[in-house]
Amino acid sequence: MNTTKDTAIRFLKDNSMHADQIDTDAVLDDFLAEMDLGLAGENSSLAMIPTFISIDKPVPAFKPVVAIDAGGTNLRVATVVFDGDGNPAISHLTRHKMPGSERELNRNEFFEKFVEFLLPFADKADAVGFCFSYPAEISPDRDGKLLAWTKEIQAPEVVGEFIGKSIFDRLEQKGYRRKFSFLNDTVATLLAGKSIDFAQKYGTYIGFILGTGTNTAYIEHNRNITKRPDLNPECSQAINTESGNFSKCPRGPVDIEFDESTENRGQYLFEKMISGAYLGGLCLLVLKKAADENLFSRAGTQLVESRTELSTVEVDGILRDPSQRIAGSAREVSAEDKELVMHLCSAICERAALFAALNISAAILKSLGGESPRHPVCVNIDGSVYYKIKGFSLMVEGYLQKILGPKHVFYELIRVNDSPLIGAAVAGLMI
Ligand code: BGC
Repeated sequence: MNTTKDTAIRFLKDNSMHADQIDTDAVLDDFLAEMDLGLAGENSSLAMIPTFISIDKPVPAFKPVVAIDAGGTNLRVATVVFDGDGNPAISHLTRHKMPGSERELNRNEFFEKFVEFLLPFADKADAVGFCFSYPAEISPDRDGKLLAWTKEIQAPEVVGEFIGKSIFDRLEQKGYRRKFSFLNDTVATLLAGKSIDFAQKYGTYIGFILGTGTNTAYIEHNRNITKRPDLNPECSQAINTESGNFSKCPRGPVDIEFDESTENRGQYLFEKMISGAYLGGLCLLVLKKAADENLFSRAGTQLVESRTELSTVEVDGILRDPSQRIAGSAREVSAEDKELVMHLCSAICERAALFAALNISAAILKSLGGESPRHPVCVNIDGSVYYKIKGFSLMVEGYLQKILGPKHVFYELIRVNDSPLIGAAVAGLMI
């Protein structure tokens, strides 16, 4: 009997979008090769950005620091203090919309927003840890120059600017001179994993994020960062891979068409197949293509065609209860239509889980550790897609075992609440 699940699988296979069609060894090899090219400064979709952050210093206790988490949709500012055991206490937490996420801002408007959010913290601490969830080149004095916007942020004049300097110079004009340390959110997540490792159990650390956007940070020997011969070859530091821009992942025609509808066409192709800013839109396009092939009833087709948006949160709702959401408003939509919507969305999420597992596997294999079960690689994971989409984390874990089991590497997946804020605080204290 031909079930709706079979129909979904056949449609996705015809469109080269099914997880079973992925040659995992080939993707993993391509990931590792792109990482090497990026470290050498050669042409690669992985920027492999040195961060000038190492993990060998202890976190100072009882010293307040201001932590900023400029994330995909929200921006949070807080004061953080670590106690003698390394436990963080977060206070004065304020939340705002990320500037540029709601409407286009010019350069001045963008930076002034940050000044406005930071002024209430001016007397709270001398140092600021600044976690920024966008690709930025880091200078040795730990400022960040924005390379490009991701997650559909609209503030084009800010690209190419040093973010920290632009904000902290403005604060200085208002009489507040503060030291700051600027870092990517995956590096902050890596540091948050390290900050809870009192027993020094782990061999090395990875920060992986799969929320609005996606990315990975890991620790690399300076001597392997051959594009920076000025670094001390005896030391190591965190690398921001910018894995969301990985371009060697197999894509189908619907992925390609979807990319063409986004702000940063041709960029961040991997992110557009797996992250929260895009999964909903990608699923909707898949549904529309299925409707074009008459896979739904007439009422189902009309409903799918009438939708102009589908959020990743709604996709999660469809997976949990197919009778609701996209089909909920139209009673005449058949049970088969609803099932087909669910199976198509579920398979797109499963492919995203496989891609996420391949990304994490590449970082683990590239890491400096994981040979001994006594000192596994610590993979600290953050992000709404990973934790909130139904069944997602379990699928990633399953795929990780399949990919890494035969390679005998030891790793542990952990979750530290508020990782970007805590990691930003750690970085701010280590200036
Ligand atoms: C950005 C990365 C960030 C990731 C996770 C991506 O869109 O390019 O810098 O780490 O999202 O927030």
